[in-house]
Amino acid sequence: MISKLPNASVSIFAKMTQLAIENNAVNLAQGFPDFPCPPRLQELLSIASQRGFNQYSAMPGYLPLREWIAQHLESTYHVKIDPIHEITISAGATQGLFSIISAFVGTNDKVIVFEPAYDSYGPAIVLQGGIPIYIRMREPEFDIPWDELEIVLRTQKIKMIMVNNPHNPTGTIWTMQDFIRLSDLCRDQNIILLTDEVYDSMVYDHQYHISGLQLKNYFEHIISCFSFGKTLHNTGWKIGYNIASEALTKEIRKVHQFMIFSVHYPSQVAIAEFLQENPNFIQEIKNFYEQKRNDFYSIMDTSKFHFLPTKASYFSLAKVPDAKLNTMDYAVQLCKEKAVATIPLSAFYHDHYDPHLIRFCFAKKNETMISAAQNLIN
Ligand SMILES: Cc1ncc(COP(=O)(O)O)c(C=O)c1O
Repeated sequence: MISKLPNASVSIFAKMTQLAIENNAVNLAQGFPDFPCPPRLQELLSIASQRGFNQYSAMPGYLPLREWIAQHLESTYHVKIDPIHEITISAGATQGLFSIISAFVGTNDKVIVFEPAYDSYGPAIVLQGGIPIYIRMREPEFDIPWDELEIVLRTQKIKMIMVNNPHNPTGTIWTMQDFIRLSDLCRDQNIILLTDEVYDSMVYDHQYHISGLQLKNYFEHIISCFSFGKTLHNTGWKIGYNIASEALTKEIRKVHQFMIFSVHYPSQVAIAEFLQENPNFIQEIKNFYEQKRNDFYSIMDTSKFHFLPTKASYFSLAKVPDAKLNTMDYAVQLCKEKAVATIPLSAFYHDHYDPHLIRFCFAKKNETMISAAQNLIN
């Protein structure tokens, strides 16, 4: 049998979670909250099912949810999005990204991916016969290497560029100047910009998220993906959405309808009703996670780790004290000997480049963080 993904294996997130279970370790590895999603949201899910929302929803998603999204994007990013033709509800951002890549990337098409990168990007491109062109962001700030990017764009035909903003795992953010610079570089080749914005509501220290959608004069070439799993503390529901012009959305939906047709109906109804009842919930997420980040830093103050300041997302990176060890081995050792599970940053590079950093997730109860800090001292 010929594998279509010969280099893929069980994801590092699943591996570290399994290791955490085996070693009874505190799991700060995988990116999900260990506290419940709002009880009212859980209740609305059950009510939606009892009210009969148990068959297929409309293919692009439950319209009241799409209408809520359009209003939310207008009030947050001052963009006018048509809920009928420009919004598609996906099974989490992952399925949205996959259908978008499937819709536009064909054999030998080149897609720029900045590394470190979320693990689904590369395989989704390769499965379409595309070629990921990996560009390493520059340490220690994880900046975009503009000079290198310009050379790639000048010398190669590029179909798409993927931008993850706010960024997992580094917690960095893009400015409007960054986006303008990128779109100016892309304009001549009509390159599609695919922005993965799943952490859009988690930007701290009085800074603001800039959405790709705000690039008004490049809108016809932009597709943006979002996830309710991150903002409503319910990653397991796998509900996200993507936004693009009507012409691009038409192509995305051609794939979406054959990949999944429509996503879990009662969840869409429950989310729409919850957000209508709690209009400030998403804005408050920013303060909630900023406090979590600050609590995490003060709780971890007793540990030997030096954390890089995180501006966004619910992740923080720490320097590995012993740079002689391969960071994957270090993370395994930390899990086995100190009972704290983390993710080595090398897992976010296709070639396992090792910047000697590990990623902690602080979307955790404070008592979980305290247990981790105690384990690290002992
Ligand atoms: C950068 C990034 N994109 C996409 C996703 C996937 O989002 P979803 O759970 O909605 O599929 C994640 C989840 O961790 C992520 O970190």
